[in-house]
Amino acid sequence: MASTCIIILWDVTMITLIVFMNLKPVLVKGEQKVPCLFIMGDSTFDNGNNNNLLTAAKANYPPYGIDFPDGPTGRFTNGRNVADFIAELLGFDRYIEPFATVKGVEMFRGVSYASGAAGILDETAIHVGDRISLNRQLRNHNVTISHMSTLLGNKTLTMEYLSKCIYIVQIGNNDYINNYLLPQLYPSSHMYKPEQFATLLIQQYSEQLKTLYLHGARKIVVFGIGGIGCVPAELDLYGTEDTACVNSIDSAVQKFSDKLKPMIDDLNSDLPDANFIYINSTSIAVTVPSSVGITNLREPCCEISVTKGEGQCKRGGGACSDRTARFFWDGFHPSEAPNKVIAERAYTAFLSTDAYPFDISQLAQL
Ligand SMILES: *[C@@H]1O[C@H](CO)[C@@H](O)[C@H](O)[C@H]1NC(C)=O
Ligand SMILES: *[C@@H]1O[C@H](CO)[C@@H](O)[C@H](O)[C@H]1NC(C)=O
Ligand SMILES: *[C@@H]1O[C@H](CO)[C@@H](O)[C@H](O)[C@H]1NC(C)=O
Repeated sequence: MASTCIIILWDVTMITLIVFMNLKPVLVKGEQKVPCLFIMGDSTFDNGNNNNLLTAAKANYPPYGIDFPDGPTGRFTNGRNVADFIAELLGFDRYIEPFATVKGVEMFRGVSYASGAAGILDETAIHVGDRISLNRQLRNHNVTISHMSTLLGNKTLTMEYLSKCIYIVQIGNNDYINNYLLPQLYPSSHMYKPEQFATLLIQQYSEQLKTLYLHGARKIVVFGIGGIGCVPAELDLYGTEDTACVNSIDSAVQKFSDKLKPMIDDLNSDLPDANFIYINSTSIAVTVPSSVGITNLREPCCEISVTKGEGQCKRGGGACSDRTARFFWDGFHPSEAPNKVIAERAYTAFLSTDAYPFDISQLAQL
């Protein structure tokens, strides 16, 4: 017990030194580019926060994690997700812990709050069971900050530290998949035209990102959504045999995507010292397959559970062997191969449309 306390005190002292003297983080090996990485969003970034929730949105069973060193962890893919690759590219020697299990000084490296089925709107995906909406994730972040302030014994110092971290956020997929596109379960599509719904989402999202800023964040990466009309589960639900994507879905989601870049501009001009950047997932996704030899864009790799439109892997079900050639792992989520490319191009833009106004590697240097 005594020795544990000493170790913790030592760690906090080192972190204090890093903040005060702007030293390269001495706690970590290699070239870590920023002291901390915080992750918010939905299943695309979740790494275990839903494991103990009462929900159908879980991925902590095989064959999820078939290519991940620790096996099934709650990641909604076969291997690493985009957030894992971003952590690697930023030089972290271990992945960022989920809020559900993070302890003590570990939270100074950052925390992942991402939760499968989470939305911008609190009611999104309520039919799936429990999930940690973006508003709840922000409240969890406040809990983390309170712990950090207690450990550092100084709120100002905590805020200074938090301003050096990178924050990555990807949310909005479920506000369509598990809300607007389910007219039999949610009133939103009866109440709002696509344009109005997109405006509503952007208004909320913008407030939520401002809250993140008020919690000390200054380097914030907003990942766009896209291609929902092309995911196998939606094609299955809409029964479009011949087309590659459901066009009506894509045109509704496009209304939201079109507003992200102006939202970033507004946040950057309204909030002093804020550096928000936007990652254009569409720009990246359209050229991913050919760059890494992904030849199958339509069929999920894992055996899908029978519930129509659910799209999750069947518990203990099979998985394809040509995993690196498949874009989709299950009915909704990309496999590790595209995740790697998406992260690499978010980190170092390949096309000028990939990241706006600049990429994550440049954000890290600020
Ligand atoms: C964070 O929570 C504390 C209470 O624990 C509250 O006083 C404070 O206003 C919250 N901060 C923000 C920015 O919401
Ligand atoms: C907290 O940290 C700030 C700046 O890092 C410093 O100026 C201030 O004196 C500290 N406050 C306390 C009570 O230690
Ligand atoms: C995102 O990329 C797509 C494809 O290159 C492009 O058509 C679109 O204009 C880009 N969107 C933004 C907001 O930059």
